[in-house]
Amino acid sequence: MSGELRLAVLASGRGSNLRAILARRDAGTLPVEVALVASDKPDCGAVATARERGIGVFARRPDSFPDRASFDAALLDAVVGVQPDVIVCAGYMRLLGADAVRRARGRMINIHPSLLPAYPGLRTHARALADGAVEHGASVHVVTPDLDAGPVLAQARVAVDMNDTPATLAEKVLAREHPLLCAVLAALARGDIVLAADAPPRWRGAPLAHPLQLGADNTLQERPG
Ligand code: GRF
Repeated sequence: MSGELRLAVLASGRGSNLRAILARRDAGTLPVEVALVASDKPDCGAVATARERGIGVFARRPDSFPDRASFDAALLDAVVGVQPDVIVCAGYMRLLGADAVRRARGRMINIHPSLLPAYPGLRTHARALADGAVEHGASVHVVTPDLDAGPVLAQARVAVDMNDTPATLAEKVLAREHPLLCAVLAALARGDIVLAADAPPRWRGAPLAHPLQLGADNTLQERPG
């Protein structure tokens, strides 16, 4: 597509990725509209940001639903109801069931704090340090029913220092997550990246062979070689 991208954002936490999107939108550098913020944590920072900004909110506690599937169904009803072009999981910490993922097929992306396929799941920074990794980073990938396993669209890499702790590494990665996620959204808005329910992601007209890499200038680049 080309033009303004209509987004639904799923978040459970402080919401810095959401605020990064909104800041670039406000600055006129990212052509998106956030139509809905959906959350399983009504008191989280992302929901507070959405309310301050007058953005539509779905925020319900999962334990107020009879089971996982009915919570997911209500959340997806709200999300699909705003007719988003793209559904962005930005720190949404609850597993989505396969039915929910199917309803969002081909238009849901997630930002994950590791260089996937390394370190899916939780505690990525601590695990990278424990392994002595020299490089770490973040990935934006298409959501499929398997956790953190969908096609990777783009990555940002950071060097691990000897003195890094999980907290310092998380901070360094987060600083690159924001431009990474926004660069992917900009590429989707321009039509450089195209997602489809039944086909692999495309980059500038061809199937995406390798994850794109975020350059120092915060643009997406094809991986050399
Ligand atoms: C980020 O590190 C993201 O990669 C992970 O959860 C965190 C969300 O941060 N999935 P925020 O809520 O956007 O500040």
